[in-house]
Amino acid sequence: MDKGISSASSQISVHVPGASYTIRIEEGLIGRAGVAMGTLTQRRKIFILADETVWQLWGKALLNGLKPLEPDVIRIPSGERHKRLSTVEKILEQLAALGAERSSLLLAFGGGVTGDMGGFAASIYLRGIDCVQIPTTMLAMVDSSIGGKTGANLEIGKNLVGTFYQPKMVLCDPLVLRTLPERELRAGLFEAVKTAVIGDPALFEFLQVARVSVMGGNPAALRHVIHACAGFKGRIVSQDEKEGDLRRVLNFGHTVGHAIEAATGYKRFLHGEAVGWGMLAATKLAVDEKLLTESAARRISALITSYGPVPSLGRISMEAIERSLGVDKKVRDGKIHFVLPRCIGEVVVVGGIPAIKAIHALESVMVTAPFETVQPPPRGSKKVTSATGAKQRKRTGK
Ligand SMILES: NC(=O)c1ccc[n+]([C@@H]2O[C@H](COP(=O)([O-])OP(=O)(O)OC[C@H]3O[C@@H](n4cnc5c(N)ncnc54)[C@H](O)[C@@H]3O)[C@@H](O)[C@H]2O)c1
Ligand SMILES: [Zn+2]
Repeated sequence: MDKGISSASSQISVHVPGASYTIRIEEGLIGRAGVAMGTLTQRRKIFILADETVWQLWGKALLNGLKPLEPDVIRIPSGERHKRLSTVEKILEQLAALGAERSSLLLAFGGGVTGDMGGFAASIYLRGIDCVQIPTTMLAMVDSSIGGKTGANLEIGKNLVGTFYQPKMVLCDPLVLRTLPERELRAGLFEAVKTAVIGDPALFEFLQVARVSVMGGNPAALRHVIHACAGFKGRIVSQDEKEGDLRRVLNFGHTVGHAIEAATGYKRFLHGEAVGWGMLAATKLAVDEKLLTESAARRISALITSYGPVPSLGRISMEAIERSLGVDKKVRDGKIHFVLPRCIGEVVVVGGIPAIKAIHALESVMVTAPFETVQPPPRGSKKVTSATGAKQRKRTGK
């Protein structure tokens, strides 16, 4: 088995022009965060930007792990609706009021919302202070904490303002995922399934055979998945920091996924869940375009649906999806570009596909591979099966 799962820790290096940093993945890492950051914390003021929920659950553990450092803590309310410039402004005001200097270090402690706003605030406060990402959701560990995209939402659309600003280090502690609600874990895992399909057949197999361990929160299994995904994204952004053609492969499932999110007002689906549907549609589209065999498509679709259930598309308006497809960020010169699988572990970016073909693919998967028919994992572990399970995890998490 890959060394990512057999050893207790793993490490990945990311190199982008002008910045190199390490992603460390270790159980219990937040309890030794100070040592892990080494010289990064020397002779400077340290600030923690923390998601309120995460702080309640894990703040004490992080403070212990930072001793004898005595950081100031800035808390922000949990949730995507707070990912706004008004929150970023409050963060900046607090940094200033607490005396943050050009040499200060900001630790962003939370999910993707905290990481994006923390990175953004760090990139503009005094024209840039150092930032370390300490992601606490699956999505943030496998995706958002890596690559340096930061930002906030505008009323009119998500992530419309932001910067590219690489962190100095990323610290992933799979143990903090114990308290993550099961639905959030699944949503993050769809991004892992995405990584497997676009470039990692070994991860694909691992996600198949180890699904129960992964969903059950087995730390070694989670570390393996995080290592594979962070490594893959790290390699992609090392070669293409600012979303040129290479980085676009990371958008597999996202063209239709974003359209589904927008068409449902960002309320019905978590991002990863919409991407789950989007990946099913892209897989069908790849078969329709004669890029992918039926049997490979069946395997891909089976893996995607095995990480369900997710909310149904219900009576979603296909007109709204089509409209959203027309304004998706990945539209170039009026033509829609789709990232389509050619086999397990390889995708191609295909331009000029009419939106209606994607709509047909989506309609077809709604009939042939509905997530709702997928049963959640067996009730062997309280951690994995229900919302109650998630609550129990929360209580026993520390
Ligand atoms: N920068 C990038 O490259 C990039 C990539 C993908 C997504 N994103 C962004 O990431 C955001 C989504 O991130 P997310 O899914 O992590 O959402 P999130 O940060 O809102 O976290 C989800 C929920 O989980 C809670 N939570 C976090 N960690 C927890 C833990 N360990 N235990 C219990 N509860 C916990 C949070 O309080 C929140 O309620 C979006 O804003 C998206 O735009 C950015
Ligand atoms: Zn995504």
